[in-house]
Amino acid sequence: MSHVKNVAIVGATGTIGSYIVAELLKAGKHQITAVTRQDSNAIIPNGVNVVKVDYTNHSSLVAALRGQDVLVITMSVKAPKESQIQLIDAAADAGVRWILPNEWGLDKANEPFADAALLGPPSRAVRNHIEERGVSDWVGVVCGFWYDFSLGGSPARYGFDFNDRSVLFFDNGTQPINTTTFPQVGRAVARLLDLPTTKGKEGMASLADFRNNYLYISSFCVSQKDMLESVLRVTDTRMDDWAVRHEDSAELYAQGLRMMKEGNMVGFIQAMYVRTFFPNDDGNFGKTRGLHNELLGLPVEDIDEFTRLAITRKDDKY
Ligand SMILES: NC(=O)c1ccc[n+]([C@@H]2O[C@H](COP(=O)([O-])OP(=O)(O)OC[C@H]3O[C@@H](n4cnc5c(N)ncnc54)[C@H](OP(=O)(O)O)[C@@H]3O)[C@@H](O)[C@H]2O)c1
Repeated sequence: MSHVKNVAIVGATGTIGSYIVAELLKAGKHQITAVTRQDSNAIIPNGVNVVKVDYTNHSSLVAALRGQDVLVITMSVKAPKESQIQLIDAAADAGVRWILPNEWGLDKANEPFADAALLGPPSRAVRNHIEERGVSDWVGVVCGFWYDFSLGGSPARYGFDFNDRSVLFFDNGTQPINTTTFPQVGRAVARLLDLPTTKGKEGMASLADFRNNYLYISSFCVSQKDMLESVLRVTDTRMDDWAVRHEDSAELYAQGLRMMKEGNMVGFIQAMYVRTFFPNDDGNFGKTRGLHNELLGLPVEDIDEFTRLAITRKDDKY
């Protein structure tokens, strides 16, 4: 049985890339190369090769990717839109067989939902481009929003404001969605890339099963009410200590779109998150698609551990 060996990663020290690299290093099965910008100040961990590139220089990118079996792209949302396409063209010219494009979130196979959540067209263009080039195959990782990122940081995400102990429930706060922790995403990628590339014995999973398709993973399937219960346990507070408001999800979504039109990017975050909680299970892909957690042997995690981390992390990068 053959396996992929050489894995190039863009964003090796980024938010999600650092967890993917940590899990690949822990598994010890791959040769990892960080593809990083010439002027980046990323400090690449020991055990990872480094190659500096200029995204506008095609031959430097092709040279960086030659001999790689997989290209994992975890690129900042602030990167120029054309950077991913430049990487894909270089991966095709370098003969890279597999690409994990910059997905890392919502179920883009549900196209009407992905479009309504404002993420459909750009990632569809990337996937189409990979297929049009006809050299690499893509695997999109659907993990929902990152739990440890989304609970803290900004009330425009999961509705929680830890500064004034308030929470805004979308509708009645009971719509469950799938959400995944950073380390679970890292483990999923390491285990996916440890599958044999082609089918072996009957019933045995392979990377080929995910060819031009999605991998669905999740840490928790929870509603805002479930999250609040975890917050109460972790902060040792009671319901009375929290101000809970309810608003109609459709209204909040429309408001987010209006804010966006006025140039307020918080509106984008609001619309994207609220749309995922619409009471139609668009955000509950474990129910609508099924999960690959078991296939990859992913562990069951303790939500309270990650609630605690999320509150202290308060990641407000976006
Ligand atoms: N599911 C969720 O909740 C969620 C949340 C946020 C984002 N995401 C998705 O995950 C992706 C990765 O997000 P992240 O937070 O991990 O990324 P990140 O940490 O912001 O950035 C990742 C890497 O992008 C590179 N980069 C930064 N600025 C760049 C530029 N101007 N041009 C080219 N490269 C640049 C850097 O690598 P070097 O310095 O090594 O070049 C950086 O380490 C996002 O694009 C988004 O699609 C998902």
